[in-house]
Amino acid sequence: MNPDYSTAVSFQSVSKSFGAKEVLHQVSFNVAAGQALCILGRSGTGKSVTLRLTIALLRPDAGKIWIEQDEITTLKTEELSRVRRKIGFLFQDAALFDSFTLYENLALPLARLTNKSKEEIDSLVVKVLREVGLAADKEIMPSQLSGGMRKRAGLARALVLEPKILLADEPASGLDRITASEIDELLMQQKVERHMTLIVVTHDVHGARRVGDRFAILDKGHLVAYGTATEVESSDNDTARQLISLPC
Ligand SMILES: Nc1ncnc2c1ncn2[C@@H]1O[C@H](COP(=O)(O)OP(=O)(O)O)[C@@H](O)[C@H]1O
Ligand SMILES: [Mg+2]
Repeated sequence: MNPDYSTAVSFQSVSKSFGAKEVLHQVSFNVAAGQALCILGRSGTGKSVTLRLTIALLRPDAGKIWIEQDEITTLKTEELSRVRRKIGFLFQDAALFDSFTLYENLALPLARLTNKSKEEIDSLVVKVLREVGLAADKEIMPSQLSGGMRKRAGLARALVLEPKILLADEPASGLDRITASEIDELLMQQKVERHMTLIVVTHDVHGARRVGDRFAILDKGHLVAYGTATEVESSDNDTARQLISLPC
């Protein structure tokens, strides 16, 4: 069924296998517009696959995926491009072009995908870089960025096309606690100030509980718990309770 207008992303009984291996089994969840869903789970449980399905880099074997009012699993390439334009993706490795400067990494997609003038592109790139705290670093090459800067650069690249929905795959992994919480702050800012819808895959329960409104716990491709932090804490699934609990 078509979800209502307050739902930004909806998975309905989505299953995905690679060969004989079922990676997601009938996964269903909704993300309300302007809210954040955090997906938690051990390695190899289908978290990244879930994000890739959301932006149709992968197609499910069964089930429906709605992005706002579009059911994307049956869309043709052209319509899919229109829907994808609503979505920003912060990849785990930041996905920057190593032979371009930071500035160029942000300006290129704008030049390719929008009708903006050179001046408009320039002011937007500078604005986004300022927002993530990299305004002074626009001429440097990706290889010169530290881990935390690289994540922020990846975020800037995801944000520069002004998406309504942001998918972030382990935005804080490999970062120290302080740098990780800076990234969480930036994500929060997008949600609160721009009413952006977020789906964040994370191992960091501190960050998840700051940013998330709802939590989806995946275990071996099954959604074993879904709801608010309080709801997941009182789940009868041991893995779910462990993953949502703050370490003492
Ligand atoms: N393109 C692919 N081809 C084959 N197997 C894949 C592919 N992508 C992911 N997988 C497998 O699917 C499972 C879930 O992967 P993934 O979603 O990346 O896990 P994680 O929860 O750690 O993000 C893993 O066993 C992985 O090896
Ligand atoms: Mg992953």
